[in-house]
Amino acid sequence: MKNLTAENLKHLIKNQSLFKQVKLFDTINSTNSYAKQNATSYQTALFIANEQTAGRGRLGRVWSSSKEDGLYFSMLLRPTIKPEVASMLTQVAAVAMSRAIKEVSSLETQIKWPNDIIYNNKKLCGILTEMATDGKEIQYVVVGVGLNVNQATFDEELLDIATSLNILLNKKISRYELIEAFINAFIPLYEKFLIQSDLSFVVDELNKKSTIVGQDIIVFHQDNRYHAKATIINELGELEIIDEFGNEDKLCYGEVSVRKLR
Ligand code: BTN
Repeated sequence: MKNLTAENLKHLIKNQSLFKQVKLFDTINSTNSYAKQNATSYQTALFIANEQTAGRGRLGRVWSSSKEDGLYFSMLLRPTIKPEVASMLTQVAAVAMSRAIKEVSSLETQIKWPNDIIYNNKKLCGILTEMATDGKEIQYVVVGVGLNVNQATFDEELLDIATSLNILLNKKISRYELIEAFINAFIPLYEKFLIQSDLSFVVDELNKKSTIVGQDIIVFHQDNRYHAKATIINELGELEIIDEFGNEDKLCYGEVSVRKLR
């Protein structure tokens, strides 16, 4: 079993052209924060941490990042795409991670639009995409991924909603093998995305793996919440819904969050 070491990671990025640099931190506040604060010092890079002291999730949430239990990494990317389409990279990364998990562990995971990987209704992985623009052009995009790998248990408040590969498979899994499988899955998808600027090449997989397509859901938008039916994820990565009054709408990644109505 190959371990997550600086040497193995250097070897991994030697065989590809997307990431110019790779850096493994023993401990850091957040790999996403590091990538953003140090973006001018790198062209493209892959930042990985054994532990994060201030891991961040979507919508201002905390991402619990205990030492050597999880895979915590951020990709600093400089895609030549329009800022409006950059958030779709979250779903490109979700497909890549779902495929990587399948390759390493054989588990068939689901994707909860737009950024969670789920197994048996519990969260295995979350993705946080952040971007800087100078108005019309992207300066950089940071795609941060947190995967629960070897956690044996979770704090009380997460017990019902989170799981890890270790809990599901009853064995330790190599974080290196997971990131290797992820990078190998991500790069070809990313290259296709740069050409197409939409998700047409993975939209079937996104719909098939979706936890909410075809389901009744609650949509949370700022202080509002309403019931709807999720109909499809379209090629722009939007979630198409019909609300309880029959109105159709398209939800974009951003301030919206959705939950399955049980
Ligand atoms: C979410 O589910 O809300 C997104 C979680 C994203 C967590 C990852 S861990 C690596 C990177 N650094 C961070 O601070 N967050 C992301």
